[in-house]
Amino acid sequence: MNDIMKYIRNLCLLALLCAVLSCQERKPSSVGSAPEIERRVERILSQMTLAEKIGQMNQVSAGGDVSNYADALRKGQIGSILNEVDPVKINEFQRICVEESRLGIPLLVGRDVIHGFHTVFPIPLGLAATFDPALVEKGARIAAVEASAQGVRWTFSPMLDIARDPRWGRIAEGSGEDTWLDARMGEAMVRGYQGADWDATSMAACIKHFVGYGAAEGGRDYNSTFLTERQLRNVYLPPFEAAVKAGALTLMTSFNDNDGVPSTGNVFTVKDILREEWGFDGLVVTDWNSMGEMISHGFGADRKEVARLALEAGVDMDMMTYGYISHLEELVRSGAVRETAINQAVRNILRVKIMLGLFENPYVDAEAAAPLQYAPAHLEAAQRTAEESVVLLKNDGILPLSADKTRTILVTGPMADAPHDQLGTWAFDGQKEHSVTPLQALRERFPGRVVYVPGLQYTREHKERFDEVTAAARRADVILAFVGEEAILSGEAHSLADLNLKGSQSELLACLAGTGKPVVVTVMAGRPLTIERDLPNCRALLYAFHPGTMGGPALASLLYGDVNPSGKTPVTFLRTVGQAPLYYSHNMTGRPYNGETLLEDIEPEAGQTSLGNTSYYLDYGAYPLFPFGYGLSYTTFAYSDIALDRDEYPVDGTVRVSFTLENTGGRDGTEIVQVYVRDLVGSVTRPVKELKHFERVSLQAGERRRVEVEIPVADLAFYGLDGTKKVEPGDFQLWVAGDSASGEAVGFKVK
Ligand code: BGC
Repeated sequence: MNDIMKYIRNLCLLALLCAVLSCQERKPSSVGSAPEIERRVERILSQMTLAEKIGQMNQVSAGGDVSNYADALRKGQIGSILNEVDPVKINEFQRICVEESRLGIPLLVGRDVIHGFHTVFPIPLGLAATFDPALVEKGARIAAVEASAQGVRWTFSPMLDIARDPRWGRIAEGSGEDTWLDARMGEAMVRGYQGADWDATSMAACIKHFVGYGAAEGGRDYNSTFLTERQLRNVYLPPFEAAVKAGALTLMTSFNDNDGVPSTGNVFTVKDILREEWGFDGLVVTDWNSMGEMISHGFGADRKEVARLALEAGVDMDMMTYGYISHLEELVRSGAVRETAINQAVRNILRVKIMLGLFENPYVDAEAAAPLQYAPAHLEAAQRTAEESVVLLKNDGILPLSADKTRTILVTGPMADAPHDQLGTWAFDGQKEHSVTPLQALRERFPGRVVYVPGLQYTREHKERFDEVTAAARRADVILAFVGEEAILSGEAHSLADLNLKGSQSELLACLAGTGKPVVVTVMAGRPLTIERDLPNCRALLYAFHPGTMGGPALASLLYGDVNPSGKTPVTFLRTVGQAPLYYSHNMTGRPYNGETLLEDIEPEAGQTSLGNTSYYLDYGAYPLFPFGYGLSYTTFAYSDIALDRDEYPVDGTVRVSFTLENTGGRDGTEIVQVYVRDLVGSVTRPVKELKHFERVSLQAGERRRVEVEIPVADLAFYGLDGTKKVEPGDFQLWVAGDSASGEAVGFKVK
């Protein structure tokens, strides 16, 4: 960097610092102690009419003209809006509430700030691939700083839905298939959004979708789920419980019905588990019209009935059904619902507004907000996160590329220069003009050396011939192909039944490989696609879950080795879609697969009637393409001398496992160490492996380090046959490895 650049950068950083400091000046001195907050809540509540209380429970989608809502705000009929991010309009909404409504209660302004506000970070599935909660927390903090500066004080994130079926488009929005990883990522995001102290940059987190939504039948969005209580408690609920413990202020009920009960009317999950068992006194909001959709589910006959059902379940705020605002008053008057239930809901809403300091500081400084957006430090963090989120799935040694040996670089593929699509799903506020694509980053890095021939304009395009791109390939030293799926192919309501690369992308890769020139592929996608047939056509493959604003520079750094890849798969990669759902943490069948015959191995004439009696697909066997937790590096790591401090532990003890990790390659690198445990015999059958710890360990080339990890035995507790959560004494196995399919088991006992 030359001096002028450095000077400009420092000026920008200074401006950022001033802006952050001026933000902090808006900080309320204190939100007060818990009893003080409760006293404030009661004071406000005691002044409210029934209609004003019900108004607080109503959330509407804004956008458009402020005057559309002015009257309702003035009358106290709206407690929260979503989907307005213009600070000037938000200030005006607040002014009407604060100055013109009878009680002056400020508005809670919500938005789906899912993986960044303006500065877009990788999609949550990519965030999970970093296995780096501290970095993810930092990203969430940045999102909160940008969004809160414009008046958005509530985000509908993190999504904590476990997703084990990549057909489901919303797999992009969560942390993948694993309960432990999901819980750690959820806690990190809650901490990041809400901040260490309550101040004007705190943005309330909303953990969603409660609960089981990711288990949609067939991966079709919004579909029914049939999770047993034990599955819920052992697999789907722990991330929510962890996020509640981390202090999440709000929670959203999901669209699905589980075992016949829609979540928004589910007394068992919302009232019994969330409220009573976990003591959650935060705000529970419905998903968009999920109260109204209980009518479509056939769980209530009309809006009045579903409003009553939602309130009885413990839901405080209605997003876009207009069920509470239209019917609660009448339901109270007829005696069908009690006003005490309404009071409780309003307390939960007011408490959040107080915690956020909205009564003291309802307004934002619209001018101060602007320089915070896309601030250099934010872009830097987004790039670093994108770098950590990319998973190297194949490398025959061609990567990292040498700048000297790749004088002419062909950049091709429909995702090479797709500034909008690299942002991924739910990037409402990130502007594509700020995205740096791989093409831009490579051109900037190697002026005059990049030849760009897209080959396909978009991923679904079908083409017979690739003459132009293959001719260019023949003249290049290396081919960098960027394929995958556009943002619109994943996310809400965007499920897919076929997970191969769409259009003629595989044919493009085959043509490129046919030139004999080295082909390095980067897949940018919202889910793990089925790429087995493409692997032979690439010398190396990087998998980037839509990497966000700074995806281009991040990928250029990885390809050319400024950064060594460290990401690991947060979800199992399938060989073919018919294997779904396939996940590492499954229970063992009575007949585990034992390498039996596959169809392709038998002679058609052999007249065989039986091929084996174990659990597998005749055509695809039993294994995935890449297991959970998998990812390569430009160096290699070896694990040795794995030892436990004891053979037996009490149920309240701590397992201390130590091992030597050695960087056995020629480059510095970071390994994501994973510890898995299996409970061999239980009152109910237990998964073959469960992740119980992970950490990033950075080692220089050739460095060896003794690492010690502690696993509290309490973390091995589960809900067994009697329905209570406890550690069941007996034999266990433990693996320390670089992915879920490697490592040698060591045994221990719990007494
Ligand atoms: C989604 C939620 C989202 C809400 C508000 C719904 O369609 O399911 O995840 O937070 O819309 O935009």
